[in-house]
Amino acid sequence: MNFLKIQESKIKSILKSFHYDVEEVSLIPSTKKELGDFQYNGIMAIAKRMDQNPLEIANLIAKELEKDEDFAKVIVAGPGFLNITFQDQALLNYANLLLEEKCYFEKLPSKKILIDYGGPNVAKVLHVGHLRSANIGESLKRLAKSLGYEVIGDVHLGDYGLQMGMIMLEIQTRYPDLSCFQTDFHADTVVDLPITNEDLINLYPIASQKAKADEKIMEKARHITYLLQQNDPCYKALWRSILALSTKDMKEIYQELDVHFDLWNGESDAEQFIPEMLDYLRKKSLTTLSEGAEIISVEEEIDKLPVPPLLLIKSNETVSYETTDLATLWDRKKENYDEIWYVVDKRQELHFIQVFRAATKSSIIPKTTKLEFIGFGTMNGKDGKPFKTRDGGVLSLRELMNLVNEETDKNMIPAIQGEERILTSKIITAATIKFADLLSHRATDYIFDLKKFSDTSGKTGPFILYSTVRMRSLLKKAKEEKIKKLYFQNFKVLSAKKVFLHLLNLQKVLEKSLQEKSLHELANYLYYLNNTYNNFYAENRILTEKEESVKSTWIALTKLVYDVNLLLLDILAIQVPTRM
Ligand code: ARG
Repeated sequence: MNFLKIQESKIKSILKSFHYDVEEVSLIPSTKKELGDFQYNGIMAIAKRMDQNPLEIANLIAKELEKDEDFAKVIVAGPGFLNITFQDQALLNYANLLLEEKCYFEKLPSKKILIDYGGPNVAKVLHVGHLRSANIGESLKRLAKSLGYEVIGDVHLGDYGLQMGMIMLEIQTRYPDLSCFQTDFHADTVVDLPITNEDLINLYPIASQKAKADEKIMEKARHITYLLQQNDPCYKALWRSILALSTKDMKEIYQELDVHFDLWNGESDAEQFIPEMLDYLRKKSLTTLSEGAEIISVEEEIDKLPVPPLLLIKSNETVSYETTDLATLWDRKKENYDEIWYVVDKRQELHFIQVFRAATKSSIIPKTTKLEFIGFGTMNGKDGKPFKTRDGGVLSLRELMNLVNEETDKNMIPAIQGEERILTSKIITAATIKFADLLSHRATDYIFDLKKFSDTSGKTGPFILYSTVRMRSLLKKAKEEKIKKLYFQNFKVLSAKKVFLHLLNLQKVLEKSLQEKSLHELANYLYYLNNTYNNFYAENRILTEKEESVKSTWIALTKLVYDVNLLLLDILAIQVPTRM
């Protein structure tokens, strides 16, 4: 069992034995290291509740704890803080247990979760907002899985709205000879598109501009959207080809970012459920007509700002994002998820409030299923505004990756050449972008600073990779020396003990990150773990250490840190190159 949890439960039972009731005792790293390694701050609250003197309670508990052989020193400070130093032997014993069992953290009671993340739009460019959703979502998925949840990830493609009508109209105007526009077209044949994905992406802004400038064109685009949604065989076939072209490129980028989805569903997959859902909603008399549209009102008395009704069917008989999201829930309900998480730009929150309310109000989703909006902030350029290209356009994810790749290449050793260089720089590029993106709380905006994020000695992805690669080569050398079984016997120096103390916090950091649905503490933890290890590494000569018991301890410590690094990097979906 987890070392800190064991010690916490000891404190809890001592408190209980003196009839002080607490729900949870939590030991946190001490803010005053000269007083102890960990501290417990709960006594003041207990004293207040019982109207007693906290100092007296603290002294009482401290005296009891010192009788326990795991506790070396318990110092009472201030109004009633407990500062705790553990016996080295207790730490060494636990370290050996970890080394042997390789069980670095404990799982939580299982839950079944669906994560809706990624959310790229067909025929549109993947931009940095899509990076954030993919990156945060993938890491949350891996974190939840590591902690024992059953998790399904769904990319939820944007493949059904008016944008599809606009693009298809533009394609029809440019290529009227395409097979799908001929009278003898067979619905189940594949439409050969004479364009690349890049062409396709360039089409969209043009198509959208044209439609916005001319109501007649907009009307046509809407009509095509309507026909698509009515399953018109020609437009549906064209749509399938566009989808295939578009997703091929997306998959490549996701592969480079080590992001993987279990489901490649999209808005269009919800279409088949719309009629039965509408039927259900109408039978429950939840829908009303308003200016030719059919809506569900979702406002509640508690609302400080108005929450507009959910638009189920527009006056032109097409449906949008709101309806497909609701119908997607209609489908997802069948899997009995405990929770459904949406990792989406925080500016879309209102939309999800509408959808969630409509889903629970209508009992499409039972009250026992938690729907959670996990909003994220914007990645900004140095000017504090959303990251733009040099000529002011939206920065695509690919452009961002190229930019970082150029910088990465500058920091790589010349010995790495050819294929290896390409592969390694791709891995480091992804690490640079992803680590930087996870470092602040997901909901805060951050400024993308290329130099800072690529710095191999800063709080960065490349720094963590360097440190990991170095540990790996040290362990390899140690193995070649055929050292007897690794064993924790003697930390000898404070810097080594500090590394181990830091490892003790792993469980808490994992649990807290899952609770907050943000990876920032985990990323920071990983950084400080490596930083603490590097301080130890810089001060000591591990492989040439004369005292066998110390040398063995230090190599064992390196092994633990290395293993935890790999584990956490895997949660952050960051790969480690062979060398860099
Ligand atoms: N496609 C949307 C966008 O690019 C994100 C989709 C979010 N997920 C959802 N179920 N609506 O902004």
